[in-house]
Amino acid sequence: MIGLGVMGRNLLLNMADHGFKVIGFDKDKEKTTAFEQAASPGTTVKGVDSLQAMTGELALPRKIMMLVPAGKPVDDVIESLLPVVQKGDIIIDGGNSHYTDTLRRVQYLAEKGIHFMGVGVSGGEQGARTGPSIMPGGDEAAYPHVQPMLEAIAAKVNGEPCVAHLGKGAAGHYVKMVHNGIEYAIMQLISECYDLLHRGAGLNNDELHQVFDSWNKGELQSFLVEITADIFLQPDDRSKNRLVDMILDKAGAKGTGKWTSQDAMEIGVPIPTIDMAVTMRNISALKEERLKANSLYKTSFGKIGAPKDQWIAQVHDALFFGVLISYAQGLSLLHKASGELAMDIPLPKVVKVWRGGCIIRSSLLDLFTQIYQQNPGLENLLLDERIAKLLQAKEQNLRTVASAAIQHKYAIGGLLSALSYFDAYRSGLLPVNLIQAQRDYFGAHTYQRTDEAGTFHTVWNR
Ligand code: 6PG
Repeated sequence: MIGLGVMGRNLLLNMADHGFKVIGFDKDKEKTTAFEQAASPGTTVKGVDSLQAMTGELALPRKIMMLVPAGKPVDDVIESLLPVVQKGDIIIDGGNSHYTDTLRRVQYLAEKGIHFMGVGVSGGEQGARTGPSIMPGGDEAAYPHVQPMLEAIAAKVNGEPCVAHLGKGAAGHYVKMVHNGIEYAIMQLISECYDLLHRGAGLNNDELHQVFDSWNKGELQSFLVEITADIFLQPDDRSKNRLVDMILDKAGAKGTGKWTSQDAMEIGVPIPTIDMAVTMRNISALKEERLKANSLYKTSFGKIGAPKDQWIAQVHDALFFGVLISYAQGLSLLHKASGELAMDIPLPKVVKVWRGGCIIRSSLLDLFTQIYQQNPGLENLLLDERIAKLLQAKEQNLRTVASAAIQHKYAIGGLLSALSYFDAYRSGLLPVNLIQAQRDYFGAHTYQRTDEAGTFHTVWNR
């Protein structure tokens, strides 16, 4: 393992716990020492600060994984490895690299006879140590060499490991990128529902904990809802408040959500809830401007008058609807990208791998697994009858929540984008006939007709 930061160290300790002899490299001696000290008794681990020392001890073909920040550090590691590896060795990038970088590296190393695999790893610090969700892709000749190790360390659901080969080229990193896009969308939706319950209905942190905790026991059961419930109870050790109330409302981002949106735009797949999640993080970063605008527009946020229990139930349904739509958007992107970018991504395996270990794991993934196993080529989850029933059962409550939120000035871009996407997707007729007329009017861009095949242009009466 190259890079003994939190993720690299924990993943390597996880491998050691499963009986693999491991070596970790880091330039920082403190990290190699901390790594050796954290090993479980009886495991074989070694920390080194020289690449030669590491590669000299590895059995052939060498299996070298790196967990370093995306971008130049990955290229730097590859260059530093080239003098000490040989044909047939396998280099694995387990970070959040952009898939186009991965494709470039696959090709570069293939020319030198070295296998390179892009592998998405999800689950954060804890997941890496005890069982992440693992999304390998690319080199099919190399995969069997790493498969037993990846299966051993992955999270298990009903005894099955949450790892599978997910397609050609950079498929592993592509799937992880879309996983993160969905992660952004769900986090945005949860934050909007928090606002509607907290400022909107006046729930305090204890009540919010109870609400999210009970939601996590029902159809919204998921890692993100579960940790949200925990967050409301966390005390602050610097003040008398709960920590959540002391955290500045400026969201960070490392870029994977933005990449998902950029790529979806590139291949023409609508994923507006993910786009909105990226946008809302960007708006949140404009804290100083928002404060000025807040005083200019004299904005105060009214209390929502609905009876508390009724409102909580309605917000629950709104969140469920938005979450389901977020998965549908992300998976529709994977469906299209799989063909467009020749990745052959097996969607039944993707949703299966996401059932455990990863940040977006939720009980919904069991249903998606059944659906995609029956229909692996499904373009969009919204076209499945079971999903239709679930959405229709929640639709009215989302509309009610959206109306009240709009009236009371709450920013619920995520929920609204999910509803608009749904309304547009299920509409057999959209008003874009007028857009086509306008395009033809000012730019002779032509249009198609409803009653006749072909391409038409009109000289419009001015
Ligand atoms: C995971 C996460 C992880 C990601 C963080 C931070 O699956 O374990 O997706 O890979 O890096 O969630 O992402 P942002 O900083 O962009 O929010």
